[in-house]
Amino acid sequence: MTDKRFVVTPWEVAGAVDYDRLIREFGTQPISPELATRLEVLLGPASYLVRRKIFFSHRDLNLVLKDYDKGRGFFLYTGRGPSGPMHIGHIGQFYFTKLLQDEFKTNVYIQITDDEKFLEVKRNLAYMDTQHWADENILDIIATGFDPDRTFILQDTEFVGHAYPLILKIAKRINYNLTKAVFGFTGETNVGMIFYPSIQILPSLLEKRRCLIPSAIDQDPYWRIQRDIAEGLGYFKAAAVHSKFLPPLTGTQDKMSSSKPETAIYLNDDDKTVRTKINKHAFSGGQATVEEHRRLGGNPDLDVPFQWLYMFFEPDDSKLEKTREDYRSGRLLTGELKQILAEKVIGFLHEHRHRREAARAKVRQFKYDGILAQKMWKTDFEKL
Ligand code: TRP
Repeated sequence: MTDKRFVVTPWEVAGAVDYDRLIREFGTQPISPELATRLEVLLGPASYLVRRKIFFSHRDLNLVLKDYDKGRGFFLYTGRGPSGPMHIGHIGQFYFTKLLQDEFKTNVYIQITDDEKFLEVKRNLAYMDTQHWADENILDIIATGFDPDRTFILQDTEFVGHAYPLILKIAKRINYNLTKAVFGFTGETNVGMIFYPSIQILPSLLEKRRCLIPSAIDQDPYWRIQRDIAEGLGYFKAAAVHSKFLPPLTGTQDKMSSSKPETAIYLNDDDKTVRTKINKHAFSGGQATVEEHRRLGGNPDLDVPFQWLYMFFEPDDSKLEKTREDYRSGRLLTGELKQILAEKVIGFLHEHRHRREAARAKVRQFKYDGILAQKMWKTDFEKL
């Protein structure tokens, strides 16, 4: 029944993801019980991310914590390819990063890869589309609550010109065979895409401290290259912490897809759309009839509404466990569980959109467009 074939690359996620196998294939580390205990203490209210194994894999996270303990500090880097409207599956990464910023009081660099999305041929986006989605996505990102004094949004087409000398140093050390092996580039790939990895590596070198990158594991191939070249350039190897994918509404396989709107809930879906999508399309681990459900109970592991509560919408462990038990025992019906999720999602989206409106006035404050380079004295940005 379980599909053993799955694909995870920076451009594609398909099938039922086997996370243990990804750790082996990508050569990352599982989060050890010792590291988890340490992190849980440090993370306070955000510790559920570790306890529930939403962060399941890492590179050098132990060294990041050591730097933190020693007072050397570290910085965070994450990003978004502005290819369309953002949905619930995209925003988790930013909330997680914001929680890390709250706890560790670090600088955060957020790369908006409008260049990458323009270059990706299969997306067929006009340049102006990428600019439009960059503007829209930036509002959603600011709305997650980043600290304006420590957060820098780097939109590639505005920013990389000022960093070109450093990009050249990166590019010179990456050979074609390596990118071909890592990303599967072929003779058909445009040369913009072949150059692009230098640009996604750049923000990891913006400070002479260790960089921790929270991202889904599909971005890890970039960090593998970064780790080959960073020390040679006088910087730290990037550290990473990988999160799982929020499953699509329609089942525990594949990824939410913009071409199938029923698989995802968009940040601007109205209340009625949210209820309809959850009621009609959310994959249920419940039984076919109420009688059977009462007798046999539901399966929370397969139930997408439960999984969404687990991964994002119910940080309170005791409430979550009660819901799990009620569902497993059949006390809680599928329709009732869906109702719980729908109310949580609707409440979250109302608050998100409220903060999103407020974000409109703050964009300039967050954007690092290179012209403001002089103001970067507040960080350790290396003078190029
Ligand atoms: N390539 C990513 C995307 O398509 C965007 C991105 C750039 C990113 N830098 C990152 C994501 C760092 C995570 C961490 O969405």
